[in-house]
Amino acid sequence: MPALVLLGAQWGDEGKGKATDLLGGSVDYVVRYQGGNNAGHTVVVGDQKYALHLLPSGILSPGCTPVIGNGVVVDPSVLFSELSGLNERGVDTSKLLISGNAHIITPYNVTVDKVTERFLGKRKIGTTGRGIGPTYADKINRVGIRVQDLYDESILTQKVEAALDVKNQMLTKFYNRRAIATDQVVGELLGYAEKLRPYVADTVLVLNQALEQDKVVLFEGGQGTLLDIDHGTYPFVTSSNPTAGGACTGAGVGPTKITRVIGILKAYTTRVGAGPFPTELFDEDGEALRRIGGERGVTTGRDRRCGWFDAVIARYATRVNGLTDFFLTKLDVLTGWEQIPVCVAYEIDGKRVEELPYSQTDFHHAKPVYEMLPGWSEDITGAKSFSDLPKNAQAYVKALEEMSGAPISAIGVGPGREETIQINSFL
Ligand code: GDP
Ligand code: IMO
Ligand code: MG
Repeated sequence: MPALVLLGAQWGDEGKGKATDLLGGSVDYVVRYQGGNNAGHTVVVGDQKYALHLLPSGILSPGCTPVIGNGVVVDPSVLFSELSGLNERGVDTSKLLISGNAHIITPYNVTVDKVTERFLGKRKIGTTGRGIGPTYADKINRVGIRVQDLYDESILTQKVEAALDVKNQMLTKFYNRRAIATDQVVGELLGYAEKLRPYVADTVLVLNQALEQDKVVLFEGGQGTLLDIDHGTYPFVTSSNPTAGGACTGAGVGPTKITRVIGILKAYTTRVGAGPFPTELFDEDGEALRRIGGERGVTTGRDRRCGWFDAVIARYATRVNGLTDFFLTKLDVLTGWEQIPVCVAYEIDGKRVEELPYSQTDFHHAKPVYEMLPGWSEDITGAKSFSDLPKNAQAYVKALEEMSGAPISAIGVGPGREETIQINSFL
């Protein structure tokens, strides 16, 4: 019953889409367990490039059943536009399963996300504006709308009314916006009900039965460890649990079932939105990483903030996720630097600190302590095995592995499926 969790070890955009797609041909189910269409996962197959937001990347692998678990938040309008975009490109999406317990991102959740961010001004989180935070807030406040609610108009109406009760007071009296009418929201949501019906399933049962039958299940994380609501750089985080435990709650699978936890780790660091980032660069090196790495957001088109590799964060990701492996991505982007700085520890108020501080104040004061590793100039995009890499690139990988606390079992040397060096098998 192999059950693998594949998740972001940094601040998202590590290359989870590519890694999931690489395994897609050998797994039976690919499951999203948290987040929603704030994610942007790029998959490159031959000369075709796909950007997936809500759908699991396994949807591109024939033979694989894509699942949207109970922990995901679903915007139905995005779902259907993503599905039809794939259908137009000849992708069969008919196997998709969606949990009846998944929460729905309603139009008012999107509105609330945007107005609160605007109101925060300089203190904003820099959210993707997709309604993610307000939808999870409604879930926790027990005024959320679930997929199954679309099949009982009377219950749906009562729930939308309850959800809008306080929100309309807030929108009109505080944010100076127009109130949102219950019947308009109910009408829009009911319009999706029949189109959604063929996909709705008891995904907890389906996945547990699949594991009992020795099927291979891959849990595809959105976002990353440092964006986790509990373990990330709060409050500059997303509103769900991308960390490994999130796969259990977000899919209804017990922790004893998980056999492997793979952290996707970029060979340098990026972040989108606000919040602390100790190794961030504001010079031409940062600009070069952005240009060579194509570091522009798949969802919002924002430039990603770029910086050197941070081993403190990698160690932290190993710990909070119980990582068994790393998949190191974008090593090819570092080709051409004579020396590559790697952050091995922080200096916080004059003291050297080896582990991520739990205090927000300390983390804001953290200055990177760098070790310089020798670079390489050879093109590595064609490398098929570890020994094909130049000696200094091999040494860079080995140094990162040593510092990060889990074996690097695969290395990305380009965006394509085949541009991967597999060191240890994941299955
Ligand atoms: P995700 O959100 O974790 O799936 O990552 P994104 O798709 O947002 O961003 C990763 C970007 O890096 C995408 O454009 C990928 O096509 C690309 N990519 C992934 N792995 C590699 C790699 O090893 N080398 C290079 N050059 N690009 C990669
Ligand atoms: P993938 O899956 C990078 C960031 C946003 C913002 C914060 C909160 O492609 O790695 P939200 O809209 O979730 O409330 O925004 O989280 N963020 C991401 N950053 N990659 C992502 O997804 C992200 N999803 C959200 O930029 O800082
Ligand atoms: Mg992304």
